[in-house]
Amino acid sequence: MTYACIKGTGGYLPEKVLTNFDLEKMVDTTDQWIVERTGIHRRHIAAVGETALSMAEQAAQIAIADAGLEARDVGLIIVATTTPEKMFPSTACLLQQRLQIAGCPAFDLNSAACAGFIYALAVADQFIRNNTVKNALVIGSEVMSKVLDWNDRSTCILFGDGAGAVVLGASDSPGIVSTHLHADGTHKDVLSLGIGLGKPLAVEEALYLKMSGNQLFKLAVKRLGDLFDETLAANGLDRSSVDWLIPHQANIRIIQAMAKKLNLPLERVAITLQDQGNTSSASIPLALDKAIREKKIKRGDRLMLESFGGGLAWGSALIKY
Ligand code: COA
Repeated sequence: MTYACIKGTGGYLPEKVLTNFDLEKMVDTTDQWIVERTGIHRRHIAAVGETALSMAEQAAQIAIADAGLEARDVGLIIVATTTPEKMFPSTACLLQQRLQIAGCPAFDLNSAACAGFIYALAVADQFIRNNTVKNALVIGSEVMSKVLDWNDRSTCILFGDGAGAVVLGASDSPGIVSTHLHADGTHKDVLSLGIGLGKPLAVEEALYLKMSGNQLFKLAVKRLGDLFDETLAANGLDRSSVDWLIPHQANIRIIQAMAKKLNLPLERVAITLQDQGNTSSASIPLALDKAIREKKIKRGDRLMLESFGGGLAWGSALIKY
């Protein structure tokens, strides 16, 4: 059997930081409300000229070096992003050009929103398990600041920009133990971003992310709880087998509920949202990279990754690091 294991990770955050106090001057909100309801204190915002591509490149270079590889060793690039450089060429193709590794398959996965990284990881896992590629670069990169209505206090306080990257490599032991993906289009209106070539939309709907936060919150807690049960049952494990939770960074209250479900103390949860906000598909690889760099996560630890986003789409990955 061939499995995909994590060989290296990398992350990139833009220099500019926007605090809750900065937001108090922009919309009718307070630092106290944002911290109490979300756990977020600050987030990074891309500079003019910084894009999903430029941030993906930075994170990718770090992850490739961390894996002890050269760019030419990469056999597949998947970029998860809802804020791509262009419709096409894909951000992944543009990145491939920058890495000067023409030839390998490269594509974006931009339809699973915040669950994009887990979806991309699951796809790359299949390529490696099937012995189609040896090393895959899987990235989440987002400039959420460009799709926010900065007059809408219910959404603009939540998100941030950044990129995270993971290099997966073939191994004869896991690695990625299992991945579990789900979607439910009946909740298509709970979280959406209208940009596209469908029927014409009002400007606000077309250009800005729209969210029914409260509804999404309840759906996320229920679906992710069920997903943990499914992931553990598929592997004949119970919750005591999980060493670390690497959650999507949407809301500290969701993260706390998920930690409780796994019976994990918060010290065993990779949390970055206080400093980064919700970076959509970048949030999991960024949180993973940080916890690894801080030497919290050790080789052999069992990790539960989970994410939930527009679609609705959600998924998990159980990984032996
Ligand atoms: N500052 C101050 N007040 C605000 C505010 C802000 N930034 N945003 C909303 N409010 C107000 C609302 O207008 C509402 O006022 P009202 O009671 O007078 O109508 C009140 O706060 C409560 O709003 P509500 O939306 O019910 O708050 P909430 O506790 O659900 O928190 C979210 C809102 C968005 C933080 C929360 O619902 C959430 O995190 N949802 C899930 C997000 C998610 O899972 N994302 C995953 C995919 S990206």
